Amino acid sequence: MAIPENVMTNDDMAAIVDTTDEWIQSRTGIKQRYIASEKESTSSLGLKAAQRALEVADVLPAELDMVIVATSTPDNIFPSTASLIQAWLGANNAGAFDLSAACSGFVYGVNMASQAIRSGSIETALVIGTETMSRILDWQDRSTCILFGDGAGAIVLQASEAEGGVLTSVLRSDGYGGDLLCVPSVGSLDSTSANGHKFNKMYMNGSEVFKFGSRVMTESIPQVVAQAGLTLNDISLIIPHQANQRIIQSAARHLKLDESLFMSNLENYGNTSAASIPIALCEAVQQGRVKQDDYLVFVGFGGGLSWASMVVRWGVPKPEEARGSFVNRQRRQLSYIFAFWRQRLNRFNRRMDEVVNRVHPTRGRMIRLRRKIERHPLE
Ligand code: UT7
Repeated sequence: MAIPENVMTNDDMAAIVDTTDEWIQSRTGIKQRYIASEKESTSSLGLKAAQRALEVADVLPAELDMVIVATSTPDNIFPSTASLIQAWLGANNAGAFDLSAACSGFVYGVNMASQAIRSGSIETALVIGTETMSRILDWQDRSTCILFGDGAGAIVLQASEAEGGVLTSVLRSDGYGGDLLCVPSVGSLDSTSANGHKFNKMYMNGSEVFKFGSRVMTESIPQVVAQAGLTLNDISLIIPHQANQRIIQSAARHLKLDESLFMSNLENYGNTSAASIPIALCEAVQQGRVKQDDYLVFVGFGGGLSWASMVVRWGVPKPEEARGSFVNRQRRQLSYIFAFWRQRLNRFNRRMDEVVNRVHPTRGRMIRLRRKIERHPLE
């Protein structure tokens, strides 16, 4: 996982909008959240989380076949944030794409990656949930801006003969509720008013989304567990989307489960959308709450409306016991350094081309032709 440096407490929030620490804590359970600085972005946080995941898994960037980034706050519409991260990692054998399923995105992404691995088309995938929600918040709307935070989490999935991994998933959407939680943006049908909401700012009907979240958590956890051929008694830990502690409490109450069966860390991070489940998973592993062969449930819900649940049989040892090797660590560092300079040089070359072209168009054409011949000598 990777978290921005700047922390913002509820008291800091109360200096911006008409709210109090007491209201936020009692209505949501959130005490603080992290906010990206100007230098940080969805891709930079995602990159850090990705590098840490590769370290723990002891996988080289060149081994990756696929990079999936679940996000609602990509750096650009395109190129995808996944492509940016793929380049910074030097994951030169990987495909890359962004996945838009709001707060359910990480579970969708893990499902896509595991299906591709099961089908035999790929072996190793990196799935990242990364967000800079602070960039799309309406900082005048106290009912939304107090809820969200920035951050990233990532996991590496790999083909294995061992039993376990992703057992089954339930992915669902109810697009009729799309207007309850949205960011009117490029492509909005009514570009002048965006249905009365602010452009590029999040709008949420809090109470409706609250009811939806509580309902789908209660329904989809038993559904996915039954689909895996298990009962709730088999589950060691449920890692829900970290939206509101009262939603988690409501699901626990309705399912007659102890609240402690649900991983919760939203008091420290707020709602980090697609990053919330991998961040919570990472902390659960660090705290020793996830052991090899445990059955876990991931459950996310959010914009779309969308929801997704998944049962995983955790197949790897704790990070300290993971098979890290000194040589691979050095190879990863080299890959990052090489990727960095490759991009710098590419950009420099393109800029030089532009300059030469402007000053001496014929010479510019000659240089481009020579480079093309060097790259593809047979053409
Ligand atoms: O990942 C996406 C998923 N998103 C969610 O899961 C969010 C789901 N929704 C929620 O978590 C809750 O609906 C909120 C936390 C957003 C709101 O809590 P609520 O208990 O549903 O409050 P409310 O919207 O019913 O508002 C109650 C009162 C209102 O005042 P009046 O009209 O009763 O005078 C609000 O204006 O609380 C007021 N209020 C606030 N007061 C102080 C709303 N936000 C604030 C605030 N500070 N930040």
